[in-house]
Amino acid sequence: MSRTPLIAGNWKMHLDHLEAIALVQRLAYSLEPADTDAADIVVVPPFTALRSVSTLIEGDRLPLGLGAQDCHWESAGAYTGAISPPMLVKLRVSYVLCGHSERRALFGDTDEVVNRKVRAVLAAGMTPILCVGETDEQREAGDAEAVVTTQVRAGLSGVDAARAATLVVAYEPVWAIGTGKTATSDDADAMCGSVRGVVGELYDGGVAERVRVQYGGSVKPGNAADLLGRPQVDGALVGGASLDAEDFAVICKAARR
Ligand code: 13P
Repeated sequence: MSRTPLIAGNWKMHLDHLEAIALVQRLAYSLEPADTDAADIVVVPPFTALRSVSTLIEGDRLPLGLGAQDCHWESAGAYTGAISPPMLVKLRVSYVLCGHSERRALFGDTDEVVNRKVRAVLAAGMTPILCVGETDEQREAGDAEAVVTTQVRAGLSGVDAARAATLVVAYEPVWAIGTGKTATSDDADAMCGSVRGVVGELYDGGVAERVRVQYGGSVKPGNAADLLGRPQVDGALVGGASLDAEDFAVICKAARR
């Protein structure tokens, strides 16, 4: 079964809503129908730009998906500063990053918190992008696969097979994020395959075949085609290069197989 690649641009804490509109307009200009036919292309702006970008996508019928970088697991309540899944749904957000390594390292998102977010996002009818990945030290110690396996298992705890099949896992080795160091295509392929194997153990082969596993970490125009050409790599979660419309468009084009 063939999986549609998912190319997502995580803008992190960059771009106000006016800059966001300009970037999406440039991106729409740079993409051709063959690009958006071949892959699901998603932009993941900061919360403050979601409404502007959503309105632009809707108004101009742009073939782009919209994602959020995080959310709370409760639907509403006394959680000052937090954003709930139903609020995102109202803005036509369809993907939510859960457990990005920056959230885990800087904001205390534990595996348990990440799991609550994954379940809340699914319950709201959106698609979680469950982010997993090992640190440099963990890789050096030979623990990369074990760490990622633990994160995948914990992230999917309590998620039924039908919902699990719809989700996306992003394998993002921490040492490759924002560093210019990329996993080799062989390593990325092997780790994405390992994630799929864990999903197969948790559920069954059918779910594992359907789940999309992206690679993230210094994906650039120059390395995208090689990474995306690997059978286990179903797309890319792009940070820095997604802030440049032309660079991101080149990466999207690399998903045409
Ligand atoms: P870079 O592409 O800047 O390395 O960031 C990757 C990332 O964290 C995407 O979520």
